[in-house]
Amino acid sequence: MGRILDGKRMAEAILADVQGQVARLAEAGQQLQLAVILVGDHPASATYVRSKQRTAERVGLRSQLVKLPADVSQNTLLAEVDRLNADPAVDGILVQLPLPVHIDEHAVLQRISPEKDVDGFHPVNAGRNFVGLPSVWPCTPAGVMEMLRREGIDVAGRHAVVVGRSNIVGKPMAMLLLAANATVTIAHSRTPDLAAVTRLADILVVAVGRPGLITADHVRPGAVVVDVGQNRVDGRLTGDVDFESVAPVASWITPVPGGVGPLTVAMLMANTLTLGCARRQVRA
Ligand code: GUN
Repeated sequence: MGRILDGKRMAEAILADVQGQVARLAEAGQQLQLAVILVGDHPASATYVRSKQRTAERVGLRSQLVKLPADVSQNTLLAEVDRLNADPAVDGILVQLPLPVHIDEHAVLQRISPEKDVDGFHPVNAGRNFVGLPSVWPCTPAGVMEMLRREGIDVAGRHAVVVGRSNIVGKPMAMLLLAANATVTIAHSRTPDLAAVTRLADILVVAVGRPGLITADHVRPGAVVVDVGQNRVDGRLTGDVDFESVAPVASWITPVPGGVGPLTVAMLMANTLTLGCARRQVRA
């Protein structure tokens, strides 16, 4: 039976560390701040944003929420990003995705100053990560790596299969695993015979957004299974992995909820601290 990768416990450890550093900076007169822009009232997005804000406040960061209506013009949204870019008290800016379809997501993410881009989504930061220059990594894949590291699960020389190719998770996840010397395969919704590919994995990371996509047939006995899925089914949060059938086969497995989710939020706080220290030229 697979052991549980307890994201909640690991997130608490990261947050305690961030909290200590944020407090020391505040004592030295550097009060760090995270700003979040939420467009519309997508219920899941509103829940995530609330959790990010609450956590920011809990670790001693100032937090600012900019709520804009679903029919906001792209220019108004860009003007809000400009305002936060220009505000010296703001260290990190996050625009919650997805955005309404009338807004060009790329244009918005490119408008965020790279030095305040806590998600690591700006092409400058994505490029820096791609070539191995210092930057912040997107929070969810960064959280997955932190989880593996904290549990002592070594990825070097092992075969990692990432299912999903989004800019938020799949692509940066594959690059992080590659940088950690894994052999990496990227599969996705158009991969024929997905199970044949996922069965090659020593480490399987699934980020597709399809509840129950991965069953015991997809998993090699002893594999580490990381479920990034956050699907609402009948009001309940469920992942992309059929936990009941996969847990007995895996060596380690993340639950949903309580797996990757809390680490995403914790890494957001860590990224805010990293960017704040770099921009203010101070050390925590
Ligand atoms: N929507 C889902 N995940 C994320 C994330 O990590 N960052 C942002 N900004 N939006 C998201």
